Amino acid sequence: MGRLGYSPASFPPLSVTGIMDTRSFRNALGSFATGVTIVSGLDGAGKPVGSTVNSFNSVSLTPPLILFSLARETSASAQHFGVGKPFVINVLAAGQIDLSNHFAKRFDDKWTGIPFDVWDTGAPVIPGALASFEGLVTANYEGGDHIIHLGEVRRMLVNEGDVAPLLYFKGRYAGVAHSDK
Ligand SMILES: Cc1cc2nc3c(=O)[nH]c(=O)nc-3n(C[C@H](O)[C@H](O)[C@H](O)COP(=O)(O)O)c2cc1C
Repeated sequence: MGRLGYSPASFPPLSVTGIMDTRSFRNALGSFATGVTIVSGLDGAGKPVGSTVNSFNSVSLTPPLILFSLARETSASAQHFGVGKPFVINVLAAGQIDLSNHFAKRFDDKWTGIPFDVWDTGAPVIPGALASFEGLVTANYEGGDHIIHLGEVRRMLVNEGDVAPLLYFKGRYAGVAHSDK
């Protein structure tokens, strides 16, 4: 038994591969469980846009910075998060799978029939989200086939209730299981 309370033998056999094709790289990255967000913004005409995104991450506390990355080719939204543009990161609750699937598809007028609030920038804030962070994009970085969008948060709302998060793990939605440790 190791120091952390498990024996190496209790792990399932490792799959070791030196062949890093795109699919196996993507599958391996799926080992990193994440939350699920919908990032919303506005297009050039002021119409709301939005995309399901799990590449959201915290960056800095002072100043309050976050990042998300969007696929240059396959995300129609990516072009709308230039420097100075607004964004809202809506962190989804377990009961919002349908919303996640809706915003993971590519089509116009995704917001038709979807209720949303508006704060300072006009970018949609989704009611019932676990947390929402509104701000402005401060920098964009080349990230291979993705664009890394860095944003400064100006306003946020946190649901302090006992609401479970929506998780994504190995290409599937999942739920949280709390540990007493
Ligand atoms: C759980 C989940 C997470 C996703 N995360 C991302 C992401 O971080 N970046 C990205 O570009 N696409 C991501 N996608 C795919 C986009 O949601 C999808 O390409 C969508 O069509 C983009 O919408 P848009 O074309 O309106 O921007 C994710 C999809 C799912 C289901």
